[in-house]
Amino acid sequence: MKNLPFAFLAFGVACVIVGMAYGIHMAVEQNFATAPAHAHLNLLGFVLSAIFAFYYHLVPSAQGRLGWIHFVVHAVAVVLMFPGIILADTGHGDELAKAGSVLAIIAMLIFAWILLRNRVPQTARA
Ligand code: HEM
Ligand code: HEM
Repeated sequence: MKNLPFAFLAFGVACVIVGMAYGIHMAVEQNFATAPAHAHLNLLGFVLSAIFAFYYHLVPSAQGRLGWIHFVVHAVAVVLMFPGIILADTGHGDELAKAGSVLAIIAMLIFAWILLRNRVPQTARA
């Protein structure tokens, strides 16, 4: 697959489908102890991924190898954080949540670097 914006958006949509299903599950069970797992799956998994997808679509020069590294690190972070926060919030240890969180911030630092390396000229305002 070559399309980085599509990869980010497809990953995001997959996350929000799981996240919404998990939200319904919480509501049915009336147990909100793991709401932060739902929140972070939807926000990091869907909202951030969608922002990244639109960014890479708008700035094609940023769609290089480092952009794909950004995608993989971000996706692995989200995939580790979701079960990790569930485990942490149910008293089963926070190692996975920690590992996911560190990867999440590394992914954002990679994105910050990409952002700085791909400054585009501002379009003229009307
Ligand atoms: C079918 C869709 C969804 C359902 C059924 C659902 C359900 C829920 C439930 C039951 C809670 C726990 C509320 C509580 O602790 O009292 C919750 C929390 C939350 N949800 Fe959802 N949710 C859905 C979609 C989303 C989406 C799409 C997002 C973000 C893009 C989102 C973001 C959040 C956040 C940030 C919280 C934590 C709020 C807080 O701690 O106060 N949810 N959701
Ligand atoms: C390395 C990344 C992140 C870490 C380690 C982290 C950690 C946390 C922690 C420890 C809480 C408190 C949870 C609790 O009350 O039990 C929290 C809450 C929250 N975070 Fe994050 N966060 C991260 C990234 C983000 C991002 C990127 C967003 C939004 C785009 C976000 C949105 C929220 C929201 C809305 C809440 C309150 C909802 C809730 O308690 O479920 N977080 N976060």
